[in-house]
Amino acid sequence: MSSPPWWQRGTVYQVYPRSFADGDGDGVGDLRGLRTHLDHLSALHVQAVWLSPVFPSPMADFGYDVADYCDVDPLFGTLDELDGLIADCHGRGIRVLLDWVPNHSSDRHPWFLASRSSRADPRRDWYVWRDGAPDGGPPNDWRSEFAAVGPAWTHDEATGQWYLHSYTPQQPDLNWENPDVEAAMYDVVRFWFDRGVDGLRVDALQRLGKDPLLRANAGSDRRHDQDWEPVAHERLRRIRRVADEYPDRVLVGEVYLLDQRRVVDYLAGGDQLHMAHNFVFLHLPWDAAAFRRVVEEFEDLAEPDAWPAWFLGNHDHSRIATRYDDGRGSGPARARAAALLLTALRGTPFLYQGDELGLPDAEIPPDRVVDVDGRDPERAPLPWRPPSVAGPGAGFTTGTPWLPLVRDAEELCAERQAADPASTLSLVRRLGALRAGSETLQSGDQRFLDAGPDVLAWLRTGGSGRLLAAVNLASGPRGLQLRGLPDAEASVLLSTDPAAGAPGRVSLSELVLRPDEAVLLQLAGTAQDS
Ligand code: GLC
Repeated sequence: MSSPPWWQRGTVYQVYPRSFADGDGDGVGDLRGLRTHLDHLSALHVQAVWLSPVFPSPMADFGYDVADYCDVDPLFGTLDELDGLIADCHGRGIRVLLDWVPNHSSDRHPWFLASRSSRADPRRDWYVWRDGAPDGGPPNDWRSEFAAVGPAWTHDEATGQWYLHSYTPQQPDLNWENPDVEAAMYDVVRFWFDRGVDGLRVDALQRLGKDPLLRANAGSDRRHDQDWEPVAHERLRRIRRVADEYPDRVLVGEVYLLDQRRVVDYLAGGDQLHMAHNFVFLHLPWDAAAFRRVVEEFEDLAEPDAWPAWFLGNHDHSRIATRYDDGRGSGPARARAAALLLTALRGTPFLYQGDELGLPDAEIPPDRVVDVDGRDPERAPLPWRPPSVAGPGAGFTTGTPWLPLVRDAEELCAERQAADPASTLSLVRRLGALRAGSETLQSGDQRFLDAGPDVLAWLRTGGSGRLLAAVNLASGPRGLQLRGLPDAEASVLLSTDPAAGAPGRVSLSELVLRPDEAVLLQLAGTAQDS
């Protein structure tokens, strides 16, 4: 097998910079803090790190409201420090992806300040301005992504028109129908690629293609405010051409569409995205048949060369350990099983910071709520050290953290877990090492097996190995009732259950998985990859 491109080999780790590590004691994470914890990333064997936005921003949406696309917010550090971070990462063989937010800027971006200043301003048409409806209301029925915001339009008193915002009113949508906007945003892509950035996560990509006629959603069988063909794909192809001016760069799209037929369209033709975040997968219940159906559906729908990317957590969604908890404490075990699932599926795993610690959502008292869309619990700062030793900031900060930490920081912090071979962190490190050393996991073929109800089982073959992964999604023990695979001897490379004994040889027909346990097995007769 030829060596796969870097972005297919291993995990992409998402850093939410505000909550990763605070280097200057102001309670908000920053680049200095991040640079002191790169050993943590190396120990996880990550291929790349994706940084949520660090650009100058009034922080109405915590950085997703960008006021300057080509600089660093002083809260996070300086452009020099970002260059330093990129160099540090590259020195460790870790690539760096930045978060590019093309759909909207901040309302404080100089472009928008000019645009709203007068109807005659040359930048007026850089955003989407319209007259109100005859009844005095907004121009059409489009709604903001955030329920609390309501209509996607805000009336501007000074110039008497409405502007479009698919998110908060502080995030006006750029007008991509205007070639000058497109050219300016391409310059942003080139600015970062010229600085050595390896790729971009494209924020809210599904919003980039809208019906140019801004027709109403109501009464139509197709939404007009997103995923509008052919605009969406033509636009993306032009973006890809800019990325392809540089060698070996990667575009990962946030394609927030809950229909895989529409998601795979963004991967089609080899001239759009390299990878798409698949939210159909993220929204699945803890159910073996559901996971199998969605992965197989993706493989069926996507072109043979399309590469899957799997993720179960990010800064916008309740954490795995909380979301999948059955109310009886199954969350931690399921978070561990999910880590194996992501690592062993064919495709690139994305890991959201803190999921390697099995963090649950933090409890946010009403007077500490800061996000308009209820996303504070999954954004709580990482606990690095036991509060009993490092103080209430748990090694995240010496100041007051911008959001409360998880309650169990004492037990869940990275330092404690690193010292415990049975911890979630130790497990995720082992998974990272296995993936990094296994051609079979990186690029082998994949086939699901019927393994009885509640058990998700699949084979990976290729390279020098033959691996079997199995996850028991039931709350009781389950034997492997494998059909389509002769009974064989196998060696357990790894189990996600801390109570499982040392890895060793088993007969497949005798293997019993504990509740929410996942295992990775090397099938007999094949050498383990080196
Ligand atoms: C994406 C981001 C989210 C942000 C939104 C608007 O969905 O992940 O955090 O609020 O885009 O930029």
